Amino acid sequence: MRPKSALFYIDDLSELMDHFIAKVESLLDDDRKIKDLARPLHEFALDAIGIMFIGSKLHVLQGSEYGKLVIDKVIKAFEMFLTVQGLPKSIAPYIPQYKEFVKITEEVYLMSKEKIFEAIKKHEVDGSLEGTVLEKMIERCGKDSPLPVVMANDALFAGIDTTGNTAAFILYHLATNPDKQEILYQEILKVVGSDGKMTEEALAEMRYLKACQQESARIAPVALGTARSAGQDMVLSGHQIPKGTFVIRMGVLMSNDERYFNNPEQFMPERWMRGCPQHQKPKNPHANIPFGHGPRACVGQRFAKLELYMAVFKVIQKYKISYDGPVLGIDYLGLGSLNGPLNLKFEKRV
Ligand code: HEM
Repeated sequence: MRPKSALFYIDDLSELMDHFIAKVESLLDDDRKIKDLARPLHEFALDAIGIMFIGSKLHVLQGSEYGKLVIDKVIKAFEMFLTVQGLPKSIAPYIPQYKEFVKITEEVYLMSKEKIFEAIKKHEVDGSLEGTVLEKMIERCGKDSPLPVVMANDALFAGIDTTGNTAAFILYHLATNPDKQEILYQEILKVVGSDGKMTEEALAEMRYLKACQQESARIAPVALGTARSAGQDMVLSGHQIPKGTFVIRMGVLMSNDERYFNNPEQFMPERWMRGCPQHQKPKNPHANIPFGHGPRACVGQRFAKLELYMAVFKVIQKYKISYDGPVLGIDYLGLGSLNGPLNLKFEKRV
Protein backbone atom coordinates (compact mmCIF):
# COMPACT_ATOMS: atom_id res chain seq x y z
CA MET A 1 0.00 0.00 0.00
CA ARG A 2 2.75 2.47 -0.94
CA PRO A 3 1.69 6.10 -1.54
CA LYS A 4 2.17 5.71 -5.29
CA SER A 5 -0.46 3.02 -5.47
CA ALA A 6 -3.16 5.37 -4.19
CA LEU A 7 -2.13 8.29 -6.41
CA PHE A 8 -2.72 6.05 -9.44
CA TYR A 9 -6.46 6.74 -8.93
CA ILE A 10 -6.45 10.55 -9.00
CA ASP A 11 -8.28 10.80 -12.33
CA ASP A 12 -10.88 8.18 -11.42
CA LEU A 13 -11.64 9.90 -8.14
CA SER A 14 -11.86 13.25 -9.88
CA GLU A 15 -14.49 11.82 -12.25
CA LEU A 16 -16.33 10.26 -9.30
CA MET A 17 -16.44 13.65 -7.57
CA ASP A 18 -18.15 15.06 -10.66
CA HIS A 19 -20.94 12.51 -10.04
CA PHE A 20 -20.97 13.49 -6.37
CA ILE A 21 -21.39 17.15 -7.28
CA ALA A 22 -24.18 16.32 -9.73
CA LYS A 23 -25.92 14.39 -6.92
CA VAL A 24 -25.52 17.26 -4.45
CA GLU A 25 -26.89 19.73 -7.04
CA SER A 26 -29.94 17.48 -7.46
CA LEU A 27 -30.56 17.50 -3.69
CA LEU A 28 -30.26 21.25 -3.06
CA ASP A 29 -33.38 23.23 -2.14
CA ASP A 30 -34.24 26.72 -3.44
CA ASP A 31 -31.90 28.27 -0.88
CA ARG A 32 -29.11 25.96 -2.20
CA LYS A 33 -29.08 24.00 1.09
CA ILE A 34 -28.89 20.23 1.42
CA LYS A 35 -30.87 18.37 4.10
CA ASP A 36 -27.94 16.14 5.09
CA LEU A 37 -24.71 15.63 3.22
CA ALA A 38 -23.73 12.51 5.19
CA ARG A 39 -25.43 9.98 2.93
CA PRO A 40 -23.97 11.22 -0.38
CA LEU A 41 -20.53 11.21 1.29
CA HIS A 42 -20.97 7.56 2.29
CA GLU A 43 -22.03 6.79 -1.27
CA PHE A 44 -18.96 8.55 -2.65
CA ALA A 45 -16.73 6.59 -0.25
CA LEU A 46 -18.14 3.20 -1.27
CA ASP A 47 -17.95 4.04 -4.98
CA ALA A 48 -14.32 5.10 -4.49
CA ILE A 49 -13.38 1.81 -2.80
CA GLY A 50 -15.13 -0.08 -5.61
CA ILE A 51 -12.91 1.65 -8.16
CA MET A 52 -9.63 1.39 -6.24
CA PHE A 53 -9.95 -2.11 -4.83
CA ILE A 54 -12.03 -4.11 -7.28
CA GLY A 55 -11.83 -1.98 -10.43
CA SER A 56 -15.63 -1.77 -10.56
CA LYS A 57 -18.08 1.05 -10.88
CA LEU A 58 -20.64 0.18 -8.22
CA HIS A 59 -22.92 3.15 -9.12
CA VAL A 60 -23.72 3.82 -5.49
CA LEU A 61 -24.13 7.56 -6.05
CA GLN A 62 -26.59 6.69 -8.80
CA GLY A 63 -28.68 4.73 -6.28
CA SER A 64 -27.61 1.08 -6.82
CA GLU A 65 -29.46 -1.44 -4.64
CA TYR A 66 -26.14 -2.98 -3.53
CA GLY A 67 -24.97 0.43 -2.30
CA LYS A 68 -28.14 1.17 -0.35
CA LEU A 69 -28.15 -2.20 1.45
CA VAL A 70 -24.43 -2.33 2.18
CA ILE A 71 -24.24 1.21 3.56
CA ASP A 72 -27.17 0.61 5.97
CA LYS A 73 -25.79 -2.73 7.13
CA VAL A 74 -22.23 -1.47 7.62
CA ILE A 75 -23.44 1.51 9.67
CA LYS A 76 -25.50 -0.87 11.82
CA ALA A 77 -22.55 -3.27 12.22
CA PHE A 78 -20.22 -0.49 13.40
CA GLU A 79 -22.88 0.63 15.90
CA MET A 80 -23.08 -2.91 17.28
CA PHE A 81 -19.31 -3.33 17.28
CA LEU A 82 -18.90 -1.13 20.38
CA THR A 83 -21.17 -3.50 22.32
CA VAL A 84 -19.83 -6.81 21.06
CA GLN A 85 -16.10 -6.17 20.71
CA GLY A 86 -15.22 -6.79 24.36
CA LEU A 87 -17.34 -9.91 24.90
CA PRO A 88 -15.35 -12.93 26.09
CA LYS A 89 -15.04 -15.49 23.27
CA SER A 90 -16.58 -18.23 25.39
CA ILE A 91 -19.93 -16.46 25.87
CA ALA A 92 -20.13 -14.27 22.74
CA PRO A 93 -21.86 -16.90 20.52
CA TYR A 94 -24.78 -17.06 23.00
CA ILE A 95 -25.42 -13.31 23.17
CA PRO A 96 -28.25 -12.09 20.85
CA GLN A 97 -26.44 -8.85 19.86
CA TYR A 98 -23.35 -10.84 18.90
CA LYS A 99 -25.46 -13.22 16.80
CA GLU A 100 -27.06 -10.28 15.02
CA PHE A 101 -23.65 -8.67 14.46
CA VAL A 102 -22.34 -11.88 12.88
CA LYS A 103 -25.47 -12.14 10.70
CA ILE A 104 -25.11 -8.58 9.39
CA THR A 105 -21.41 -8.94 8.63
CA GLU A 106 -22.09 -12.24 6.84
CA GLU A 107 -24.78 -10.60 4.71
CA VAL A 108 -22.38 -7.81 3.73
CA TYR A 109 -19.68 -10.37 2.97
CA LEU A 110 -21.99 -12.36 0.68
CA MET A 111 -23.16 -9.26 -1.20
CA SER A 112 -19.63 -7.93 -1.62
CA LYS A 113 -18.27 -11.36 -2.57
CA GLU A 114 -20.70 -11.42 -5.49
CA LYS A 115 -19.35 -8.06 -6.70
CA ILE A 116 -15.76 -9.20 -6.21
CA PHE A 117 -16.31 -12.44 -8.17
CA GLU A 118 -18.01 -10.48 -10.97
CA ALA A 119 -14.94 -8.23 -11.09
CA ILE A 120 -12.56 -11.20 -11.26
CA LYS A 121 -14.59 -12.84 -14.06
CA LYS A 122 -14.67 -9.60 -16.05
CA HIS A 123 -10.92 -9.25 -15.60
CA GLU A 124 -10.35 -12.66 -17.20
CA VAL A 125 -12.04 -11.30 -20.36
CA ASP A 126 -10.91 -7.67 -20.49
CA GLY A 127 -8.08 -7.20 -17.95
CA SER A 128 -10.16 -4.61 -16.13
CA LEU A 129 -8.51 -5.22 -12.75
CA GLU A 130 -5.17 -3.99 -14.05
CA GLY A 131 -3.49 -1.79 -11.45
CA THR A 132 -6.08 -2.43 -8.74
CA VAL A 133 -5.29 -3.69 -5.24
CA LEU A 134 -7.29 -6.85 -5.96
CA GLU A 135 -5.09 -7.70 -8.97
CA LYS A 136 -1.94 -7.14 -6.91
CA MET A 137 -3.29 -9.39 -4.18
CA ILE A 138 -4.19 -12.14 -6.68
CA GLU A 139 -0.68 -11.93 -8.18
CA ARG A 140 0.88 -12.16 -4.75
CA CYS A 141 -1.32 -14.86 -3.15
CA GLY A 142 -2.34 -16.91 -6.21
CA LYS A 143 -5.77 -17.03 -7.83
CA ASP A 144 -7.06 -19.85 -5.63
CA SER A 145 -6.17 -18.13 -2.36
CA PRO A 146 -9.13 -16.82 -0.34
CA LEU A 147 -7.04 -13.82 0.83
CA PRO A 148 -7.65 -11.41 -2.08
CA VAL A 149 -11.42 -11.78 -1.72
CA VAL A 150 -11.26 -11.36 2.06
CA MET A 151 -9.06 -8.29 1.65
CA ALA A 152 -11.37 -6.72 -0.94
CA ASN A 153 -14.37 -7.45 1.27
CA ASP A 154 -12.62 -5.83 4.26
CA ALA A 155 -11.95 -2.75 2.14
CA LEU A 156 -15.57 -2.50 0.97
CA PHE A 157 -16.65 -2.87 4.61
CA ALA A 158 -14.10 -0.61 6.27
CA GLY A 159 -14.06 2.18 3.70
CA ILE A 160 -17.61 3.54 3.91
CA ASP A 161 -18.52 5.50 7.03
CA THR A 162 -14.87 5.88 8.12
CA THR A 163 -14.05 8.05 5.12
CA GLY A 164 -17.61 9.36 4.70
CA ASN A 165 -17.86 10.64 8.29
CA THR A 166 -14.33 12.04 8.20
CA ALA A 167 -15.19 13.98 5.03
CA ALA A 168 -18.36 15.29 6.71
CA PHE A 169 -16.30 16.65 9.60
CA ILE A 170 -13.78 18.42 7.35
CA LEU A 171 -16.55 20.10 5.38
CA TYR A 172 -18.29 21.08 8.63
CA HIS A 173 -15.05 22.53 10.03
CA LEU A 174 -14.42 24.49 6.83
CA ALA A 175 -18.03 25.72 6.64
CA THR A 176 -17.87 26.97 10.23
CA ASN A 177 -14.41 28.50 9.82
CA PRO A 178 -14.85 30.70 6.72
CA ASP A 179 -11.43 32.35 7.17
CA LYS A 180 -9.73 28.93 6.93
CA GLN A 181 -11.93 27.98 3.99
CA GLU A 182 -10.79 31.15 2.21
CA ILE A 183 -7.10 30.33 2.80
CA LEU A 184 -7.73 26.88 1.32
CA TYR A 185 -9.55 28.38 -1.67
CA GLN A 186 -6.63 30.76 -2.27
CA GLU A 187 -4.25 27.77 -2.21
CA ILE A 188 -6.42 26.00 -4.79
CA LEU A 189 -6.46 29.12 -7.00
CA LYS A 190 -2.70 29.47 -6.73
CA VAL A 191 -1.91 25.84 -7.51
CA VAL A 192 -4.48 24.88 -10.18
CA GLY A 193 -6.78 27.87 -10.73
CA SER A 194 -10.57 28.07 -10.59
CA ASP A 195 -11.19 25.16 -12.95
CA GLY A 196 -7.86 23.30 -13.00
CA LYS A 197 -7.57 19.59 -12.30
CA MET A 198 -5.97 17.89 -9.35
CA THR A 199 -2.76 16.10 -10.32
CA GLU A 200 -0.04 14.34 -8.38
CA GLU A 201 2.18 17.43 -8.68
CA ALA A 202 -0.64 19.78 -7.64
CA LEU A 203 -1.44 17.63 -4.62
CA ALA A 204 2.20 17.72 -3.55
CA GLU A 205 1.93 21.53 -3.40
CA MET A 206 -1.37 21.67 -1.49
CA ARG A 207 0.00 21.85 2.03
CA TYR A 208 -2.98 23.68 3.47
CA LEU A 209 -5.42 21.09 2.11
CA LYS A 210 -3.50 18.33 3.87
CA ALA A 211 -3.25 20.37 7.07
CA CYS A 212 -7.04 20.88 7.04
CA GLN A 213 -7.52 17.11 6.84
CA GLN A 214 -5.08 16.44 9.65
CA GLU A 215 -6.56 19.13 11.89
CA SER A 216 -10.15 18.04 11.36
CA ALA A 217 -9.28 14.42 12.14
CA ARG A 218 -7.46 15.58 15.29
CA ILE A 219 -10.58 17.27 16.61
CA ALA A 220 -12.96 14.56 15.44
CA PRO A 221 -11.23 11.21 14.89
CA VAL A 222 -13.98 8.88 13.70
CA ALA A 223 -12.27 5.90 15.36
CA LEU A 224 -12.30 6.89 19.02
CA GLY A 225 -9.16 4.87 19.58
CA THR A 226 -7.54 1.53 18.97
CA ALA A 227 -7.61 -1.74 20.86
CA ARG A 228 -4.99 -4.37 21.57
CA SER A 229 -4.63 -7.51 23.63
CA ALA A 230 -1.58 -7.02 25.86
CA GLY A 231 1.08 -9.40 24.51
CA GLN A 232 2.93 -9.49 27.84
CA ASP A 233 2.60 -8.25 31.42
CA MET A 234 3.18 -4.49 31.44
CA VAL A 235 2.71 -1.28 33.39
CA LEU A 236 0.72 1.50 31.70
CA SER A 237 0.50 4.88 33.47
CA GLY A 238 1.19 3.15 36.77
CA HIS A 239 -1.42 0.41 36.26
CA GLN A 240 -0.41 -3.23 36.26
CA ILE A 241 -1.72 -4.80 33.03
CA PRO A 242 -1.56 -8.62 32.93
CA LYS A 243 -0.81 -10.38 29.64
CA GLY A 244 -3.97 -10.95 27.58
CA THR A 245 -5.85 -7.90 28.95
CA PHE A 246 -8.00 -6.08 26.42
CA VAL A 247 -6.64 -2.51 26.33
CA ILE A 248 -8.26 0.44 24.57
CA ARG A 249 -6.30 3.59 23.71
CA MET A 250 -8.77 6.49 23.77
CA GLY A 251 -7.17 8.52 20.99
CA VAL A 252 -9.89 11.17 20.92
CA LEU A 253 -9.02 12.25 24.49
CA MET A 254 -5.33 12.63 23.72
CA SER A 255 -5.79 14.52 20.46
CA ASN A 256 -8.05 17.04 22.23
CA ASP A 257 -5.89 17.44 25.34
CA GLU A 258 -4.30 20.83 25.96
CA ARG A 259 -1.18 19.14 27.34
CA TYR A 260 -0.45 18.14 23.74
CA PHE A 261 -2.17 20.82 21.62
CA ASN A 262 -2.56 24.54 22.37
CA ASN A 263 -6.22 25.64 22.23
CA PRO A 264 -7.29 22.11 21.23
CA GLU A 265 -10.90 23.15 20.56
CA GLN A 266 -9.80 25.53 17.76
CA PHE A 267 -9.73 24.38 14.14
CA MET A 268 -6.23 25.59 13.28
CA PRO A 269 -4.70 23.80 10.29
CA GLU A 270 -1.65 26.07 10.61
CA ARG A 271 -0.53 24.14 13.69
CA TRP A 272 0.57 21.37 11.32
CA MET A 273 2.50 23.63 8.92
CA ARG A 274 6.20 24.24 9.44
CA GLY A 275 7.02 27.89 8.82
CA CYS A 276 3.65 29.19 10.13
CA PRO A 277 3.76 31.18 13.39
CA GLN A 278 1.07 28.86 14.83
CA HIS A 279 3.07 25.72 13.97
CA GLN A 280 3.38 23.44 16.99
CA LYS A 281 6.20 20.98 17.41
CA PRO A 282 4.66 17.62 18.38
CA LYS A 283 4.83 17.14 22.13
CA ASN A 284 4.05 13.45 21.70
CA PRO A 285 4.18 11.72 18.30
CA HIS A 286 1.29 9.45 19.33
CA ALA A 287 -1.07 12.23 20.43
CA ASN A 288 -2.78 12.31 17.03
CA ILE A 289 -2.90 8.96 15.23
CA PRO A 290 -6.42 8.75 13.72
CA PHE A 291 -5.41 5.81 11.52
CA GLY A 292 -3.76 3.86 14.35
CA HIS A 293 -0.14 2.86 14.55
CA GLY A 294 2.21 -0.04 13.92
CA PRO A 295 1.73 -3.27 11.97
CA ARG A 296 -2.06 -3.25 12.48
CA ALA A 297 -2.53 0.40 11.47
CA CYS A 298 -5.20 1.21 8.88
CA VAL A 299 -4.36 -0.40 5.53
CA GLY A 300 -6.62 2.05 3.73
CA GLN A 301 -4.97 5.22 5.03
CA ARG A 302 -3.41 6.34 1.73
CA PHE A 303 -6.60 5.65 -0.17
CA ALA A 304 -8.81 7.35 2.40
CA LYS A 305 -6.59 10.43 2.43
CA LEU A 306 -6.64 10.68 -1.35
CA GLU A 307 -10.45 10.46 -1.31
CA LEU A 308 -10.64 13.15 1.37
CA TYR A 309 -8.24 15.49 -0.46
CA MET A 310 -10.14 15.04 -3.70
CA ALA A 311 -13.56 15.55 -2.12
CA VAL A 312 -12.55 18.71 -0.25
CA PHE A 313 -10.59 20.10 -3.20
CA LYS A 314 -13.48 19.68 -5.63
CA VAL A 315 -16.12 21.07 -3.27
CA ILE A 316 -14.12 24.14 -2.22
CA GLN A 317 -12.91 24.86 -5.76
CA LYS A 318 -16.51 25.05 -6.92
CA TYR A 319 -18.47 26.28 -3.89
CA LYS A 320 -18.37 28.55 -0.92
CA ILE A 321 -19.91 26.36 1.77
CA SER A 322 -21.62 27.62 4.91
CA TYR A 323 -23.60 26.27 7.86
CA ASP A 324 -26.01 28.17 10.11
CA GLY A 325 -27.56 25.41 12.24
CA PRO A 326 -26.81 24.42 15.83
CA VAL A 327 -23.19 23.70 16.78
CA LEU A 328 -22.36 20.09 15.97
CA GLY A 329 -20.04 17.73 17.78
CA ILE A 330 -19.10 14.08 17.55
CA ASP A 331 -21.18 11.13 18.78
CA TYR A 332 -19.65 7.69 19.03
CA LEU A 333 -22.60 5.44 18.33
CA GLY A 334 -20.11 3.12 16.68
CA LEU A 335 -17.79 5.15 14.55
CA GLY A 336 -17.83 8.84 15.37
CA SER A 337 -20.30 10.88 13.36
CA LEU A 338 -21.69 14.40 13.44
CA ASN A 339 -24.43 14.59 16.06
CA GLY A 340 -26.86 16.39 13.78
CA PRO A 341 -27.66 16.75 10.09
CA LEU A 342 -25.00 18.42 7.97
CA ASN A 343 -27.24 20.82 6.09
CA LEU A 344 -24.66 22.87 4.26
CA LYS A 345 -25.34 25.72 1.88
CA PHE A 346 -23.49 25.52 -1.46
CA GLU A 347 -22.95 28.86 -3.21
CA LYS A 348 -21.30 28.65 -6.61
CA ARG A 349 -18.05 30.58 -6.76
CA VAL A 350 -18.02 31.44 -10.45
C1 HEM B 1 -10.74 8.34 7.18
C2 HEM B 1 -10.92 7.06 6.99
C3 HEM B 1 -10.39 5.96 7.88
C4 HEM B 1 -10.03 6.00 9.20
C5 HEM B 1 -10.03 7.19 10.16
C6 HEM B 1 -9.60 4.66 9.55
C7 HEM B 1 -9.11 4.29 10.80
C8 HEM B 1 -8.68 3.04 11.12
C9 HEM B 1 -8.16 2.66 12.41
C10 HEM B 1 -8.00 3.59 13.62
C11 HEM B 1 -7.83 1.35 12.35
C12 HEM B 1 -7.23 0.51 13.50
C13 HEM B 1 -5.73 0.70 13.49
C14 HEM B 1 -5.00 0.15 14.67
O1 HEM B 1 -5.55 -0.70 15.40
O2 HEM B 1 -3.82 0.55 14.90
C15 HEM B 1 -8.15 0.88 11.01
C16 HEM B 1 -7.95 -0.41 10.57
C17 HEM B 1 -8.29 -0.85 9.31
N1 HEM B 1 -8.75 -0.09 8.27
FE1 HEM B 1 -9.14 1.90 8.32
N2 HEM B 1 -9.71 3.85 8.45
C18 HEM B 1 -10.18 4.61 7.40
C19 HEM B 1 -10.43 4.21 6.11
C20 HEM B 1 -10.22 2.93 5.64
C21 HEM B 1 -10.37 2.52 4.27
C22 HEM B 1 -10.77 3.43 3.11
C23 HEM B 1 -10.12 1.20 4.23
C24 HEM B 1 -10.14 0.37 2.98
C25 HEM B 1 -9.16 -0.31 2.56
C26 HEM B 1 -9.75 0.77 5.57
C27 HEM B 1 -9.41 -0.51 5.93
C28 HEM B 1 -8.97 -0.90 7.18
C29 HEM B 1 -8.63 -2.27 7.54
C30 HEM B 1 -8.74 -3.50 6.64
C31 HEM B 1 -8.20 -2.23 8.88
C32 HEM B 1 -7.72 -3.41 9.74
C33 HEM B 1 -6.21 -3.50 9.65
C34 HEM B 1 -5.64 -4.64 10.50
O3 HEM B 1 -6.28 -5.07 11.45
O4 HEM B 1 -4.52 -5.07 10.21
N3 HEM B 1 -9.82 1.86 6.40
N4 HEM B 1 -8.64 1.93 10.29
